[in-house]
Amino acid sequence: MNIIVRENYYEMSKHAAGMIAELIRSKPDCVIGFATGGTPIGTYKELIRMHKEEGLDFSEVKTFNLDEYLGVGIDLSKPYNLDQSYARFMHEELFKHINVRKENIHIPDGLTKDPEEYCKLYEDEIKKAGGIDLQILGIGGDGHWAFNEPGSSFTSRTRVEALAQQTLDDNYEAFYKKAGISREQMPRYAITMGIATILEARTIIMLANGSKKADIVAKALKGPVTTDVTASAIQLYKGKATVILDKEAAAKL
Ligand code: GLP
Repeated sequence: MNIIVRENYYEMSKHAAGMIAELIRSKPDCVIGFATGGTPIGTYKELIRMHKEEGLDFSEVKTFNLDEYLGVGIDLSKPYNLDQSYARFMHEELFKHINVRKENIHIPDGLTKDPEEYCKLYEDEIKKAGGIDLQILGIGGDGHWAFNEPGSSFTSRTRVEALAQQTLDDNYEAFYKKAGISREQMPRYAITMGIATILEARTIIMLANGSKKADIVAKALKGPVTTDVTASAIQLYKGKATVILDKEAAAKL
C-alpha cells in the first residue's frame, strides 16, 4: 500500500484527480467506482476543471457507485439540499458537469422493489462491464467503506445493510440537520457494495482528510485487520492501493 501525505485538502484532491485522469487518458473506456461524502468533493471539482479546461474526456467511461440509501431516489424537482440521495449528490457534484453518458452511470437503485434480486444484478453489471479498474473510497467515522458497517464480513457482496448509530449521527450532523430533516425521517438502511466486491477492483484510491479522521485512519491502515473497522480490509488487498491523506488525517500514523 502506498501512503501519500499532502499538505492540505486541495493538494490531496489534486493528487487523486491526477491519478484518475491518468487512468482515463490511458484507458478511455475504463470503469471507475465513485464514492460519495464530503471527502471526494474536491477531487470531483478538480476532475470537472480538467474536463472543462483540458478536455478530459469521460464519454467512454463507465461508472459504478458504492452505495445508495434504501427507499430513496433522485428527485430533481426538489432543491438539492432536500434530496439526500447519493444519485443526486453524484449528479450535482460531478456528472452534470462532465460528458459521462447517462447509460454508462450505475448507482444502486434505492427504490428497487426487490432489493435482494437487485443487489445480485448490480454485481452482474459490474462483471459485465469487465470489473472496476479504479475504486475511489472514503472512510466513515466508524471505519466503514461504503456502508459496510462494523461487523460486515470481508466476503460480503452487494446487499442491504442497516446503518450503524455512529453513521446515523454523522449523517445527521453533516447533511440532514442543515436540510431541516429530523432524525426520524432519515434513511436507516442502504444498498452497499460488499467488502469482497470492493477488493475485486483492480486498483483502489482511499482518501481521508481532517483531524476528525486521524484516529480511524491509523486504525484502518496500521491496526489489526478486523471487521470492526471494515476499511482495515485494505491491508488484505492484493491490487495496487494508494491512500492519499492530508496532514491532519495522517497525524496518528
Ligand atoms: C458515507 C459513505 C461512505 C463515505 C463516508 C464518509 O458513509 N457511504 O462511502 O466514505 O460517508 O463521508 P465523508 O467523506 O463525508 O467523511
